[in-house]
Amino acid sequence: MIQKERILQIGALPTAAIALLRENFSVVEIHSLGANENASDIRGIATSGKAPIDAVLLERLPNLRIVSCLGAGTDGLDVALLAQRHIVVANTSAVLAADVADIAMGLVVGLARDLRRADRFVREGGWRERKYPLGAALGGARLGIVGLGSIGAAVASRAAAFGMEVGYHNRSPRPGARHQYFDSVIALAAWSRFLVLSCPGGAATRHLVDAKVLAALGPDSFLINVARGSVVDEGALVAALTGGSIAGAGLDVFEDEPNPNPALIAQDNAIFLPHIGSATAETRDAMARAMVEALVRELGPAA
Ligand code: 8YV
Repeated sequence: MIQKERILQIGALPTAAIALLRENFSVVEIHSLGANENASDIRGIATSGKAPIDAVLLERLPNLRIVSCLGAGTDGLDVALLAQRHIVVANTSAVLAADVADIAMGLVVGLARDLRRADRFVREGGWRERKYPLGAALGGARLGIVGLGSIGAAVASRAAAFGMEVGYHNRSPRPGARHQYFDSVIALAAWSRFLVLSCPGGAATRHLVDAKVLAALGPDSFLINVARGSVVDEGALVAALTGGSIAGAGLDVFEDEPNPNPALIAQDNAIFLPHIGSATAETRDAMARAMVEALVRELGPAA
């Protein structure tokens, strides 16, 4: 019998993804690799993208060719070092972008029309006593996107279908993008009624949305985060929601998951979700397949 190639699993992966990996590879969990083992046979890593992959580990994997992440985020990876060593980094942003964009637009609609409190109003009988306050129209409103990658582009096309005006901020203008470009987050925030975050996490974007950006967004406007909790200074966000310097926030991600800041989740002018952007049965299947396919493409199929 021909032995399957060993690949390294780093971080927790869903059972279905591990089963799919095992059809093609012999999966070795990081903690079962000997402490000083020089694993020169390992050419591929399957990871959540969140667990750390650094220089110390790479020293032990001299023939590593690919790191395949189950998800869009590569927060745990030293991407610059991997690029320097010509190691391929694959993610599954292409197959999850639509679902994450759907959740972003769900939060946009939910905030604009105050669906969460409207539901409570019906359940608690407020409707018998008074009319519900008016909401904000989406048609003609400005939606700003921080990070026009696969997810940002999927948000942009949905927002356009709602009749919204779309602007965006990236480190540089995206070639071929027809939306208005802003060269700073603060300028985009000042322009936007809905500011959607869909940029990568990590050190480069830590607290990109701070008190100044929230002040620029303004008291009639909303913040939506489907990126990473680290992109927002949550202390500043609590202050902005409490003081009314923004109208509301919709968050699918938090600085500390699954233990969001109690002062943040006490805010009523907000909608909170438990990081479910890509959490549909169809997309989680597609993510597992895409993660394994990237490894097979790079390393070849099981013999
Ligand atoms: C996770 C995510 O991957 O894609 C990302 O970067 O944040 C999520 O979709 C998901 O929690 C699976 O681990």
